Amino acid sequence: EKIVLAYSGGLDTSITIPWLKENYDSEIIAVCVDVGQKEDWDAVEKKAIASGASKFYCPHVADEFAADFIYPAISANAKYQGTYLLGTALARPLIAKKLVEIAHQENATAICHGCTGKGNDQVRFEMGIAAFDSEMNVIAPWREWNIKSREDAIDYANKKGIPITSTKEKIYSEDENLMHISHEGGDIESPANAVNYADILHITNALENTPDEAEVVTITFNKGRATAVNGEALKPSEVVSTLNTIAGKHGIGVLDWIEDRTIGMKSRGIYETPGGTVLLEAHERLESLTLTKETIKLKKYIGLELAELVYNGQWYSQANLAIQALINQTQEYVNGEVQVKLYKGNILPHSITSPNELFDADVSGFGEDDLFDHHDAKGFINIITLPTKIQKRKGMI
Ligand code: ARG
Ligand code: SIN
Repeated sequence: EKIVLAYSGGLDTSITIPWLKENYDSEIIAVCVDVGQKEDWDAVEKKAIASGASKFYCPHVADEFAADFIYPAISANAKYQGTYLLGTALARPLIAKKLVEIAHQENATAICHGCTGKGNDQVRFEMGIAAFDSEMNVIAPWREWNIKSREDAIDYANKKGIPITSTKEKIYSEDENLMHISHEGGDIESPANAVNYADILHITNALENTPDEAEVVTITFNKGRATAVNGEALKPSEVVSTLNTIAGKHGIGVLDWIEDRTIGMKSRGIYETPGGTVLLEAHERLESLTLTKETIKLKKYIGLELAELVYNGQWYSQANLAIQALINQTQEYVNGEVQVKLYKGNILPHSITSPNELFDADVSGFGEDDLFDHHDAKGFINIITLPTKIQKRKGMI
């Protein structure tokens, strides 16, 4: 029997290896999917093997993550509850896909993940796994075992001879990928606790450490997808990492908020999404110039719907396929160049140019032009004011 374990290299997933061997009498295949987190992969592999895994896989899928998950979400301007850019939620379905692929390759009978019973990630992993293999067994030790605290986990590790390599205390529950880093738990769990961002953030400068000079960044879009930064052609993963560096320096994209988890509870989280935040903002600005008001309104609604689907683990769904088709249609004319100015956590407007702009200098300007005759406005006003005049006459207003 073999079990594929979603492995991170941390204490929790390391002790999962002996626990699984003991309780399920299986060989453990550790899989750490590279979705763009900064990691010493050799060290992670060594640790997995030292903890008792018989094999280690590390599929590098940051390119696929950017092109097929981050970009479609940006095209939809998707923000959960109008706020959160979904960094973790977007990566989970891709990780699940890779876990199933490797499970099939290895003829494994189950997939194990380290999510707790209170969180969103268990839902996302298990929905993703179900989408690729409706028969696959899933093991979630946090919903089964008696280990309840970090101290318990360290005791168990010592008992089983698991190397505890990190001396640095892991204070928060963090999830990192190309798009973001999330921070939850510990003293930031309570909304009553003010935090010092400089102590928490990893890729974003706290405002007090940002440069005093603003920086203009130019992003080129082709059908809603960013293809270049400051004139340099880049693939999607490079666009995101380049923007992470530039925007991170200026303290952009830090979110500290209270979200509603799928399971029903409220939860405080702090997120760093520097590149994604600039990308989404620039994209939305370009749409303001190239899409009609009806399309913009429709997209606002669809973007919220997509965000809920993704947050709740339904990336692989009929509804998402339909949404992607709709979004793709709307992106046909989202072409051009957007410049934004980054300054102390702010993304300020600079310029937008597009071969498909709906702004027409003649029509929108104050002068005369061939499409618009000022006299027509008189008849238009007469007609649209009619209901108001009737309501007045009937004494209703
Ligand atoms: N609350 C965020 C979300 O649901 C982040 C979750 C982070 N996950 C983790 N295992 N640390 O998308
Ligand atoms: C967890 O509970 O495993 C992490 C947080 C989440 O999934 O929302």
